[in-house]
Amino acid sequence: MRQRAAVLISGRGSNMAALIAAARDPAYPVEIVLAVSNQAQAPGLGLAAALGVPTEVVEHRRFKGDRAAHEAAIDAALRAAEVQILCLAGYMRLLTPFLVGRWAGRMLNIHPSLLPAFPGLDTHARALAAGVKLHGCTVHLVTQTTDEGPILAQAAVPVLPDDTAETLAARVLAQEHIIYPLALRAFASRRSGMSPPADAALLNPLPPEGALLNPLPPEGALQSPLPPGTAPHDPRSPEAVLRDPLPPRAALP
Ligand code: GRF
Repeated sequence: MRQRAAVLISGRGSNMAALIAAARDPAYPVEIVLAVSNQAQAPGLGLAAALGVPTEVVEHRRFKGDRAAHEAAIDAALRAAEVQILCLAGYMRLLTPFLVGRWAGRMLNIHPSLLPAFPGLDTHARALAAGVKLHGCTVHLVTQTTDEGPILAQAAVPVLPDDTAETLAARVLAQEHIIYPLALRAFASRRSGMSPPADAALLNPLPPEGALLNPLPPEGALQSPLPPGTAPHDPRSPEAVLRDPLPPRAALP
């Protein structure tokens, strides 16, 4: 039996659409039964409806700052739809311990950075300002601290010299749409005691031009500083090498 998931959004809903698209495959272990938004104007609501998924609006404004009451109303909608897994996808409200506790171990989120780097907002501009060479996205379980919680999947993309926050965001978003459905599928399979699909470990689930790309020319990156054939002989035991992978000074040429 497929597990019933809802997606909680505040805006565009492109990740929600990626989840809905994946769940159209009857072999996908999850069906998306509901999209909930705290914003009546969220474009994602129209998208969900067009894709045949029921929608519900639980506007936070109506609750005049009573966050617990707002979350209780969301929770009631989720229960009424017999939801088992909750996916946050661009939901822009901080959660209280009520909703986090209620969905502990069953609530996923996608965040546009390689956590634990750049939690919070404006991740792409901050990544550019920090000068990182790799950036990306993370699917994680939601715990009490925002943008923390066990990591389920990540994808990395190169940061290119002429990137703006917008071009970088678009490159990351393309990967979000790939890893969120993969992570949800692996999560749901494990939950129902099925062994996750072979690619669930996300060893290399992404197209070659996408993630985990080496942005440097082949002769540039990750090359051993030692010319071939000159690797020093390390006389230590394998256990000692594992503890401290650097060869002893004496072994260096
Ligand atoms: C995505 O970048 C997601 O990582 C972040 O909010 C954005 C939502 O985009 N949490 P969309 O609504 O899924 O298009």
